[in-house]
Amino acid sequence: MKITVIGCGYVGLVTAACLAGFGHTVTGVEKDPAKVSALKEGLIPFYEEDLAPLVTGGLQKKRLFIQEKIDENTAGAEVIFIAVGTPSLRNGAADLSQVFKVAEEIAPYLKNYTVIVNKSTVPVGTAKQVREIIKRNLAGEIPFDVVSNPEFLREGKAVSDFFRPDRVIVGTNSSRAEQVMKKVYARLLADGTPFIWTNPEAAELIKYAANAFLATKISFINEIANLCEAAGVDIDTVARGMGLDKRIGGEFLRAGPGYGGSCFPKDTRALTHIARSCGQRVLIVETVIKINEQQKARMVRKIREAAGGLKGKTIALLGMAFKPGVDDLRESPAVDIANRLLAAGARLQVHDPMALERVKEVFGARINCCQDPYDAVTGADVLVIVTDWPEYKELDLAAVKKLMNTGDTPALLDLRNIFTPQEVRRYGFRYQGVGRGWKGDPENDLQN
Ligand code: UDX
Repeated sequence: MKITVIGCGYVGLVTAACLAGFGHTVTGVEKDPAKVSALKEGLIPFYEEDLAPLVTGGLQKKRLFIQEKIDENTAGAEVIFIAVGTPSLRNGAADLSQVFKVAEEIAPYLKNYTVIVNKSTVPVGTAKQVREIIKRNLAGEIPFDVVSNPEFLREGKAVSDFFRPDRVIVGTNSSRAEQVMKKVYARLLADGTPFIWTNPEAAELIKYAANAFLATKISFINEIANLCEAAGVDIDTVARGMGLDKRIGGEFLRAGPGYGGSCFPKDTRALTHIARSCGQRVLIVETVIKINEQQKARMVRKIREAAGGLKGKTIALLGMAFKPGVDDLRESPAVDIANRLLAAGARLQVHDPMALERVKEVFGARINCCQDPYDAVTGADVLVIVTDWPEYKELDLAAVKKLMNTGDTPALLDLRNIFTPQEVRRYGFRYQGVGRGWKGDPENDLQN
C-alpha cells in the first residue's frame, strides 16, 4: 500500500519505519528541513532502540521516503497518518493546532478515496473536527474517511511495541475505511493480535483512559510507599504481594519520584480537561496529578534532610532522563527536582548515560555535567539516584564512598529502589529509598 505519515517525531517516525517494515511504501513528511536532511541519511534525532536499522533499511530498499512538504504525491496515498504533536496548552487541554493545520493542508490535494488516520493523542470528538476541516478544504466531491488509531508505544521499546502490540484500537464508522485499515495491519491481524473495532470517539477515549490508569497505578503505589515509610513497612514486599493478584498485576507498581515523559503528564491533564468540557470531573485523575507533583517535592525534602540543608551543598544526581533507555528529558522528575534544588541554592553535579547533551541545553552552566558517574559523586554531600539506569546498580560503592565529601557516613538516596538497603549500608552509607520503612537494621539509616 502507498501510505503517508505526517510528522516524523517519536511516534511518526516509528510508525513510518514500521509500516515500511510491513512492506508498504511509506513517505514520512517532516516540516523541519534540518531533520529531513538528517533522516534521509538515516540519522535519527533521538535514541530509540532498533529504530535506526529499520529507517536505514527502509530508505535503502526504497520502501521509506522522507520529504519536507505535503504535495500531490504524499496526499495521493491510500492512507494518510497524522502523527504530529498535541502538547499541553496552559490550561492543560491538548493543543490541536498542528493536527488541524495538517488536515487543512492535505485536503486540497486529495483526489481519490483516502483514509486519514489520527495517530496523535487527541481528545474525544477530534476525528469529527478533522473530518469537518477536510470537507471544507477539499477541491471537489472526493470521498474520504477519518479514523482514530491511537498509539500505545513506550519510548525505548516503540519498535517492538509496534510489531508486537497488546492490542490495536481502530475507531471508524465506515466499513470501507475498516477494510483499508485491515490491509494496513494485515500482518498483525495474521499474527493474531487482538483488534478492537469501534467508533472514533471510543478509540480516542481508550487512549486517555489507558494512560490515566497506568499513571494512577504509579501515584497509588507512591502513596502506599509514603505510608510504608510512616508505618515501618517495605514497599517492594507490598507491591509484590499486591501484584501477584492477577486482577491487579505487578507492572507499574514501582515506587519512585513520580511519573514523567511525553505522555502521562500531558494525557492526565488533558483527560481532566476533556471531562470538564463534558460537564464531568474525573476526581481520581485530578488526584493522581496532585500526588505526582507532591511526590517530586517530597523527594527534594528527603534530599534536604539528608544533606542537612541545601544552600551551598553539593548534590550528585545520577540519571536525568525520565526513564532508563531513552535520552528524553520531557517532564522528567529529575529535571523538576534539579530545578528545585538549584532554587534552594544547591550545587549540582549530574550524570546521565544518554541525556547529558540535552541536560546541557536545558541547564547550561547552572549544572555541572559529568561524563562519568564517579566524577559526579566526587566531593558530593549527598548522592541521589534519580533514574534507574542499570549501570548505576554496578557502581563500585566503596570507591563512591571514598570520593564523596561526607567522611564516614555519606548519604545515598535511592529514589528508584535499585539497591537493597542492606547492600548499601554494608559500605557504611546512610541509605534511604522510597517506601522502605522497614528497619531490619536501623543503624545508619536516614530518618524517614
Ligand atoms: C507511556 C505508556 O506506557 C505508553 O503506552 C504510551 O503510549 C506513552 O506513555 P512512556 O512514556 O514511554 O510510555 O514510558 P513508561 O515506561 O510508561 O513510563 C512512564 C513514566 O512512569 C516514567 O517516568 C517511569 O519512570 C514512570 N514509572 C513507570 C514509575 O514511576 N513506576 C512504574 O512502575 C512504571
